Amino acid sequence: MSVQVVYKNSKKIANSKFQAVFTGENFTMSEISSLSKLEITKLKKIINFKNVNSNNIFHLNLDNKIIILIPVKKNFKINDFEILGAKLYEYLKNNSFKKVSISKNFININNFNHFIHGLKIKSYEFNLYKGSQKKNLFLVEALINRSKKDKINIQKFNSIEAGVNFARDLVSEPPNVLFPKEYVNRLLKLRKIGIKVTVYNEAKMKKLGMNSLLGVGKGSSKESYLVTLEYYGNKKNRSKLFSFVGKGVCFDTGGISLKPARFMEEMKYDMAGSAVVSGLMQSLALRKAKINVVGVVGLVENMPGGNAQRPGDIVKSYSGKTIEVLNTDAEGRLVLADALTFTEKKFKPKFIIDLATLTGAIIVSLGEEYAGLFSNNDELSDKLYKVGLEVNEKVWRLPLNKNYDKLINSSIADVQNINYSGGAGSITAAQFLQRFILKNTPWAHLDIAGMAFSKKAANLNPSGATGFGVRLLNQLIDKYYE
Ligand code: BES
Ligand code: ZN
Ligand code: ZN
Repeated sequence: MSVQVVYKNSKKIANSKFQAVFTGENFTMSEISSLSKLEITKLKKIINFKNVNSNNIFHLNLDNKIIILIPVKKNFKINDFEILGAKLYEYLKNNSFKKVSISKNFININNFNHFIHGLKIKSYEFNLYKGSQKKNLFLVEALINRSKKDKINIQKFNSIEAGVNFARDLVSEPPNVLFPKEYVNRLLKLRKIGIKVTVYNEAKMKKLGMNSLLGVGKGSSKESYLVTLEYYGNKKNRSKLFSFVGKGVCFDTGGISLKPARFMEEMKYDMAGSAVVSGLMQSLALRKAKINVVGVVGLVENMPGGNAQRPGDIVKSYSGKTIEVLNTDAEGRLVLADALTFTEKKFKPKFIIDLATLTGAIIVSLGEEYAGLFSNNDELSDKLYKVGLEVNEKVWRLPLNKNYDKLINSSIADVQNINYSGGAGSITAAQFLQRFILKNTPWAHLDIAGMAFSKKAANLNPSGATGFGVRLLNQLIDKYYE
């Protein structure tokens, strides 16, 4: 994050040259006058009112001081405050205003906290490999008085921001650095914050019969892993546990069903589902959420090679069901199949939510605006939909239906990993996953292929890794399960 926020007593006069203030919808010359403590006659000489526009942030250069005006509209919701904070970050960056004081004025503390949250979320930069190039660093002084409760709330925002950025860092790392073993090493560090990390290597997975997951990693010289991350914030009721499962394909070449060269480099982000699970677990532990959660990630690299899985291979999954692998590029579902059954069997969770950059088809359907949501449970779906709107990480439900099953029934195994008849690519993928939930546990699948990474910046994200899902699932837990 390239912004550091410090809190100062609001009675202190800001000594920064750059001062930001919120203004109402139709601010007037007298409003600016009282804010800047300059007389109207003097103001009129400095300000060209034609440039003043109450829709956008702008600044006035007054007597050696820069006053940045942040217009707030009456109908603003929490979400709008986050986006406004992000806009201020862009403004500071574009103008190279490196140190700014912000007065809360008439904004209530909750909206102000969301404003700062948006500003910080937007300021993420991944510059680990940029050598000596100058890094952006902005200092924001928030002039507010915080009660004890406010401080706790701000702590909560900080935890979520840390989780979002942990996920973004994992996704941004190049695939030669973040291969499965290195990923495991980073997850082991979560032990320090009270998460129980258990690592299953290939030998252990072989014993358990996770041949669907293992098959995907066969062509790679890197070892595959399954990692569980357990966090108990509700110790009185340890068996009441919720679960999140993530696809962690550290690089997806397609395997023997090799992908075309163009944009193949993007497939480093094929582990984004697992990164969101990891970031979520980190934020829950940091904010000491009062809930028990397990995160399960399957970490593999999908490579071609002499030992790689072939199209036509049949593998026996952890569930006991056999899978005919017709296309080695439909590997995410093979990883998730075993991870889902394992999670359900071992932890008996109250729900399972999985996240995966699963299909290109979901980008055709929903682009970079909504993640695809598939679920066997209306209540869980509705909750996800609602919290999505609240945090601006939107999800859109698509159907599951047993009639799709015939498209993935194999003639020589229990199921095949692609549907050859064409159409409904994201649905048949979800339908495939559902076959590995054996006990009808409430389950939701989020296909985040269009949301995890973007060449373009969005409201709350710079270009690159978004961390989509960490805020969504924090909100889900916060609102309905804590
Ligand atoms: N990782 C890809 C899906 C993907 C595509 C993610 C574009 C992000 C951006 C997945 O493993 C894949 O290759 N899916 C295939 C499935 C097909 C072979 C049935 C796809 O979507 O083309
Ligand atoms: Zn693939
Ligand atoms: Zn993939």
